[in-house]
Amino acid sequence: MAGKKKETTLQTSATNQEQWEEVLATKGLTVVDVYQHWCGPCRAVISLLRKINNELGDDLLHFATAEADSIDALEKYRGKCEPTFLFYGGGELVAVVRGANAPLLQRMIVDQLAKEKLVLEHGGQRQVVVDNDLAGDEKIEEQRAYYHHHSEDGESLIVPASKSYTVAIIKPDAVAHGKANEIIMKIQDAGFEILAQDERTLTEAQAREFYQHKGAEDCFEDLAQFMSSGPSHILVLSQLEDSCDAVQAWLRLIGPANNEEAKREKPDSLRAQYGTRTLFNAVHGSEDRDQAGRELAFFFPDFSTAPRAARDAEEERVERTLALIRPGVARENRDEIVAHINKSGFIVSLQREVMLTEEQAREFYAHCNEEDSFPALMQSMARGSVLALVLSREDAVQHWKNMLGPADLKRAKEEDPECLRARFCVDGDPLNQLHGSQSTEEASREISFFFPVQQTLAVIKPDAVDQHKDEILEEIHNRGFSIKQTEEKLLSREMAEGFYKQHRERPFFSQLVEFMCSGRSVLMVLEKENAVEEWRAAMGPTDPELAKAEFPDSLRARLASDVLRNSVHGSSSQTHAQDEIQFIFGEQMELTDTLGTSYADEDTNEATPDKRQQQYEGDAQESNRHGPTTEVKEESEL
Ligand code: RTP
Ligand code: MG
Repeated sequence: MAGKKKETTLQTSATNQEQWEEVLATKGLTVVDVYQHWCGPCRAVISLLRKINNELGDDLLHFATAEADSIDALEKYRGKCEPTFLFYGGGELVAVVRGANAPLLQRMIVDQLAKEKLVLEHGGQRQVVVDNDLAGDEKIEEQRAYYHHHSEDGESLIVPASKSYTVAIIKPDAVAHGKANEIIMKIQDAGFEILAQDERTLTEAQAREFYQHKGAEDCFEDLAQFMSSGPSHILVLSQLEDSCDAVQAWLRLIGPANNEEAKREKPDSLRAQYGTRTLFNAVHGSEDRDQAGRELAFFFPDFSTAPRAARDAEEERVERTLALIRPGVARENRDEIVAHINKSGFIVSLQREVMLTEEQAREFYAHCNEEDSFPALMQSMARGSVLALVLSREDAVQHWKNMLGPADLKRAKEEDPECLRARFCVDGDPLNQLHGSQSTEEASREISFFFPVQQTLAVIKPDAVDQHKDEILEEIHNRGFSIKQTEEKLLSREMAEGFYKQHRERPFFSQLVEFMCSGRSVLMVLEKENAVEEWRAAMGPTDPELAKAEFPDSLRARLASDVLRNSVHGSSSQTHAQDEIQFIFGEQMELTDTLGTSYADEDTNEATPDKRQQQYEGDAQESNRHGPTTEVKEESEL
């Protein structure tokens, strides 16, 4: 569950032998970022780790940083500049990931955690690895692919042959101006998938070699100087849509090489936005497929373009299913049930606690309304809030059905007393208390019923724009929001007053307006399933002190200075979201909406006591202005 861990710091820090031994003695899986004193731990992955930690919420998962220079056991990692993550189970090395490769890290954490649990629970054999790559001589080390991880099948990075790919570089000028994250987000919003990513500073010799085809041009020396002047981000991109040509799509997105021409002819292109001169044109792309192949080999020599490997097939099976914990057990047993879910390798990717109206319950269960048990089902749904969860893993639908056991409670108890439905039921209620989608089609229908795609207005407030913009954008991206509109500007007094008009009578109103006009804000329309609640959960409570105590991973806990200067804004209901988007961007954006429409009318969002609901305190007053909200019924019958 978006589980709250007690410790405020995500990673335990080890800077001496004693602390290192403590890390090794920790029960469970520990993911260690081994770093060099001079460059510090890898900041690029922190929000990813935080996200994984939140999603898995597992007591057996730990994170640590270890300084190679001061720990003898890590001697062989000294002087290596590539980010390196060591996975330890029971004090033994079980995997290594090199490079800040988000998808790989995430997959590896989930896999290794599941393996470690098998070892701990069933006494299986731990698969220990030896990090041999380090023994190799430095030359090979430099040339080696940016990641290699050791597993039984010794897999290496693979691009499915069916996909086209291209090599993109975010050049030193854009990286130095702090634009890398923003560009990476735009890349993803444009439908690209990042197959590999590495930050590195090219040597002058490498820059010359890379641009050797331009050897005869006047600018060649300057180009080599420039490209080796600081870190670049090297990316391997493909398009999510299999049939798209990644090379051409990327060239279209970056625009003409000359940034004046780009500004004139393709003002939306990356070079028009980020380039400053022809030489400093922010990004590079392969010219054609052949060049993409050569550049891939140049930067990632181990990258293979073999046909779909077993792992890709496995990845394709990652699916989502909807789980409902009905009111009868939602309050008492939710933690225990969610613990079972997490243990079984699912990630809870979305969750909300919601009190369905009678109409909504009827709509959701429309296909059962002929059944004898329908009235009882309606009654059971009316007892209180239901906890809806989107569960992800490979084969999620079938796996969750297996865990649930037979739908008929009597049969469940007789035939499979260990199944969840048999274990978590209500005395005297003949109905089971847990639901799972029957098929992948049903899952997608049911997921969009509970988690309709929504838009919300997010603001990076003046206190956070200068220092924390990139981190907030990264968080937005990591949490799977897409940014539909964005604008950075200084709000006028009238705008600020209008924006917060619902607080006109509050004592802090003038301070609030003053603050909102004190510098530039970044205004954004974010879209995601259940976006309003999801963004508020990302922000955390209004008061950062409360945020630090209750939701230490939230943005306000991490970034805000006080209750007024609290770094971010998010609409507090769907109605507000629509009003605010209209107010700022002057238009209503069309959205496919199912359950969302009825929520918008009633602001049901806010009447539901999600665990996260504590965060929404400030909104109670707001929602009252929008007419009656659904009261949460007491579960006295239980
Ligand atoms: P926001 O609207 O900015 O997303 O924040 P929120 O819903 O969490 O909080 P809300 O109650 O709507 O308050 C709006 C903003 O007013 C400032 N505030 N100052 N001095 C105070 O006690 C106080 N209380 C609220 C904050 O900037 C808050 O975000
Ligand atoms: Mg508010």
